[in-house]
Amino acid sequence: MITDEQKALVQGSWAKVAPSADAVAKIFYAKLFELDPAVEPLFTSDIEAQGKKLMKTLSFAVNGLNNLDRLVPVVEDLGRRHKGYGVVPKHYETVAAALIDTLAKGLGDDFTDETKDAWVAVYTVLSTTMISAASDN
Ligand code: HEM
Repeated sequence: MITDEQKALVQGSWAKVAPSADAVAKIFYAKLFELDPAVEPLFTSDIEAQGKKLMKTLSFAVNGLNNLDRLVPVVEDLGRRHKGYGVVPKHYETVAAALIDTLAKGLGDDFTDETKDAWVAVYTVLSTTMISAASDN
């Protein structure tokens, strides 16, 4: 469950890092590949283009938190496509760790414990929705 306060924390903190999307994406992928070098070969398209897509999807997700009914089917489709990219459930934990690390670097003192917990709650909704959609069929 995501509370209204958590939605506001995620949306407010995202607004602070979103203008530096390219730099944020670079930090994110560097951390991800450091944590698990085995995922690097799954990314076959240009990493800059990929970074832009990831940032766009996260923006969409963050902004879509107020309208979860509309967001869920989009995230389910995203989860099914990820299975096709060779992504397995344990990768979602590594991506979570890379994302939290990136937000901590990007937000500095603004990354409070409450903000971190709010991001974990939102990422958990996204990742469980993606993983469960990828596992049915
Ligand atoms: C909340 C979690 C995630 C979000 C929002 C997300 C978002 C995206 C988006 C928007 C794309 C572009 C292609 C498409 O729309 O199908 C993409 C591609 C991709 N993602 Fe994710 N992703 C997430 C989790 C992960 C995880 C856990 C991995 C595992 C390492 C991963 C690996 C990939 C790969 C390998 C591609 C294709 C890259 C390529 O074509 O080179 N993603 N992701």
